[in-house]
Amino acid sequence: MKKIIITGGAGFIGSHVVRRFVNIYPGYHIVNLDKLTYAGNLANLKDIEDKPNYHFIKGDITDADFIDRLFATEQPDAIIHLAAESHVDRSISDPIEFVLTNVVGTVNLLNAARKYWDGAYDQRRFYHVSTDEVYGALGESGMFTEQTKYDPHSPYSASKASSDHFVRAYHDTYGLDVVISNCSNNYGSHHFPEKLIPLAINNIKNNKAVPVYGKGENVRDWLWVEDHARAIDVIFHEAAPGETYNIGGHNEWKNIDLIRLLCSIMDRKLGRADGESAKLITFVKDRAGHDLRYAIDATKLKRDLGWEPSLQFEEGLEKTVDWYLSNEEWLADVTSGHYQQYYKAQYTSR
Ligand code: NAD
Ligand code: TYD
Repeated sequence: MKKIIITGGAGFIGSHVVRRFVNIYPGYHIVNLDKLTYAGNLANLKDIEDKPNYHFIKGDITDADFIDRLFATEQPDAIIHLAAESHVDRSISDPIEFVLTNVVGTVNLLNAARKYWDGAYDQRRFYHVSTDEVYGALGESGMFTEQTKYDPHSPYSASKASSDHFVRAYHDTYGLDVVISNCSNNYGSHHFPEKLIPLAINNIKNNKAVPVYGKGENVRDWLWVEDHARAIDVIFHEAAPGETYNIGGHNEWKNIDLIRLLCSIMDRKLGRADGESAKLITFVKDRAGHDLRYAIDATKLKRDLGWEPSLQFEEGLEKTVDWYLSNEEWLADVTSGHYQQYYKAQYTSR
């Protein structure tokens, strides 16, 4: 049996990756390591929490001693590392948490992998999940490839870029078997409602203003989160050591166009008159250093490993809206912070 530690498994993307691996690979044992910050919610994994090939450990990757003990006791064969501070706006108001978790936390994991695997890297792998934001901002044309020079602008993307460099350095210096993927913006179920799409769904539902930064001209390339989890699965199993893959949806949307589409879907789902929800759109002060455009060229992933996105955006957005409207309790718990009280009482750190 292969044992895999997935970090950040209680978060948005991590919970989809954990679910996929637990369900598809009964021969693997999945350890979900998560600090349960505001973004971590074990309710995301209710459907698989009792599976015999899964267990959860509460812990902080910035704590090097804890990570060392974790490797000693769990003896993992592989790490899929998603734990991070992930919200750009939070990184602008409080950068240090991003340095600690995203940079120091990643290096703690690399050090433990190096120490416990001790040069025996066959059948062992350190998979680092990263973002397209490390490449900076595009103008009206062009796409990010794996050769694009890193040019991060926000404290978030700077911290992710730094962690990517450390992961590559551990491959080049110590021979650790690493792979990195850089993915575009994800959307789907269990997305914390501080990010654009779930925030807008929640606000539209509650007849609250939908804040659009600047003029809404910024472009993002949106990918269905389950397609990301499938890409991680393929890359984890098939990429050569040291490889990097871009993952993206070939699906660019200006924020304002996306929000208008979302408003029309919400009108239909909530039985409102067409155009009603769009009245909630409110242009607000732009984000500092706001990257104009992201677009991923995922040709390499398709060519080498045969991965492609499976879902059209309109269909995925509709499914996402349906999930939020039928999971009101999840949304209410998350917006009230109630889920944190509950799980804090259940789990204590090692
Ligand atoms: P998220 O914020 O929803 O989840 C992050 C998880 O990490 C949470 O469960 C949190 O509790 C945990 N965590 C935070 N600090 C920790 C610490 N110190 N120790 C242990 N656990 C900790 O994030 P997400 O959107 O699911 O992103 C997951 C990963 O994917 C991140 O590395 C992010 O950079 C990357 N990524 C995200 C996107 C996106 O669109 N959301 C796109 C590309 C890449
Ligand atoms: P976000 O979901 O925070 O993801 P990221 O910053 O990682 O791309 O934001 C997506 C886009 O939406 C980005 O251009 C910022 C913009 N945005 C708004 O216009 N209003 C909002 O309330 C938020 C959270 C984001």
